[in-house]
Amino acid sequence: MFLHDKNIYMNPINKELLQQFRSPAFPGSFFLSFEGIEGAGKSTQIISAKEYLESQGFRVLILREPGGTPFGEKLRQAILNSKTELEPISEAYLFASSRAQLLTEVTLKELNVPGTIIIYDRYIDSSIAYQGIARGLGIETILGIHSTFPLNLMPHKTFYLKISLDTSFGRQRVRNSPKDYFESRGKDFYENLVTGFETSCELFPDRICVIDGNRGLDEVFESIKAEIDELIMKKDEQ
Ligand code: TYD
Repeated sequence: MFLHDKNIYMNPINKELLQQFRSPAFPGSFFLSFEGIEGAGKSTQIISAKEYLESQGFRVLILREPGGTPFGEKLRQAILNSKTELEPISEAYLFASSRAQLLTEVTLKELNVPGTIIIYDRYIDSSIAYQGIARGLGIETILGIHSTFPLNLMPHKTFYLKISLDTSFGRQRVRNSPKDYFESRGKDFYENLVTGFETSCELFPDRICVIDGNRGLDEVFESIKAEIDELIMKKDEQ
């Protein structure tokens, strides 16, 4: 599939649909997410963010998508180990089902405890990039599925770790780990993922912060830390 022209997807998104999405208001607690293609360095940066936030006195929980609840983990296995090609719309609803359970069973309850930070390893922007663009469903379909509570809850800040395809493939070669349902796809798929994440950044510019992930780990974390500090400071002032 050759879909790299993101303009096809930008035109029809209506403003009312975008207005359905908002961050939850819990005093002293934050909801963060990390996004990126394979090899972007999400896991490492999430651990650094957790350590930093704990040093600042926060209680930090890392949640992964899909998964994070007993039902979600079953869905994770069902999707990522699938030997048959699923319909893109089936994928979208499976990811959304796992997400809805994680939001109600864990995220909303934990955010109620002041001083909590929930960090998601992937969230709605992965659905936009993977199912919306790379699997061709269209962004409006993904936003539509997520426009109802609790799926309309957005992180206070999302870090999109942006890397080049050369960096991604180079890091994948070094890791040499077995490939799951999505990882074994070709370069076109990855190009479409990048288009998808970039489209998300354009749709949600206030929420998503683009971080250059091609740099060394420490340098990348410095950029993330600066954004985290700003977010916490702004909230304190409110
Ligand atoms: P995972 O092993 O967690 O991948 P990674 O280490 O790259 O984060 O597997 C999650 C896979 O599911 C990943 O390939 C991205 C994909 N995915 C979607 O297609 N849609 C979604 O909404 C989410 C959350 C993940």
